[in-house]
Amino acid sequence: MEYRVVIPAAGQGKRMKAGKNKQFILLEDQPVIVHTLNVFQNDPNCIGIILVINEKEKKEFCELVDANKLSKVSHILNGGKERQDSVYKGLKALPGEEDGVVLIHDGARPFVTCDMITRVAKKAAAKGAAVLAVPLKDTIKSGNDGIVLKTLNRSSLWAVQTPQAFRSSIIIKAYEHAERCGITATDDASLVEELGYEVSIVLGEEYNIKLTTPYDLSMAEVILKWKENKG
Ligand code: CTP
Ligand code: MG
Repeated sequence: MEYRVVIPAAGQGKRMKAGKNKQFILLEDQPVIVHTLNVFQNDPNCIGIILVINEKEKKEFCELVDANKLSKVSHILNGGKERQDSVYKGLKALPGEEDGVVLIHDGARPFVTCDMITRVAKKAAAKGAAVLAVPLKDTIKSGNDGIVLKTLNRSSLWAVQTPQAFRSSIIIKAYEHAERCGITATDDASLVEELGYEVSIVLGEEYNIKLTTPYDLSMAEVILKWKENKG
């Protein structure tokens, strides 16, 4: 199942408090973004990587792409203010003539595997739109001013990850619609849901975490060791 992938990496990593974009933090001597890019570079089904970056960091990203022979990176583009702006810029670089499968994957999620990618890409090819997700382990309540409003039914709740996968015509239409109507969202599938399309849920893995806070870096060490032992 051939696909292209847009990888937003243009954030500032404020919550990580590392004093730099978290994409450059080293995990086992390699920057986070190189771990992420390598997964797609090594997946035979990936036919192109569109990397979206912060203009000020262009030199660093270009050097990493060259040094690690990431030959599938077809574009290195400047991102925008929010993740949504960055992804939209990436989507605009897709070849207009094909309506293939496009994946969107956070640069800050380095533990994705070929298996997960294949599962979500296949589902998107068949159904149009799919996200990776895992069942919630905690009970979730909504609240206001420190008071519980409601306890949500956990059995119908999912923690959504990336990659999220779409037929490119659908995701482009969704981003165009969002721009026209001023809709903002924290994930890509929400914009597709806004258009009334069905989005399939594909089982992800608990370890496919997004590196967000310093605590996640300790988790990252554990996950790397665990993955090595696993095989
Ligand atoms: N991202 C992006 N462009 C932005 C904001 C975010 O490309 N304007 C990317 C990040 O680089 C990251 C992914 O979107 O790979 C998920 O975003 P998040 O985890 O929020 O990363 P940051 O925005 O960098 O972190 P923070 O919100 O803590 O500043
Ligand atoms: Mg952010």
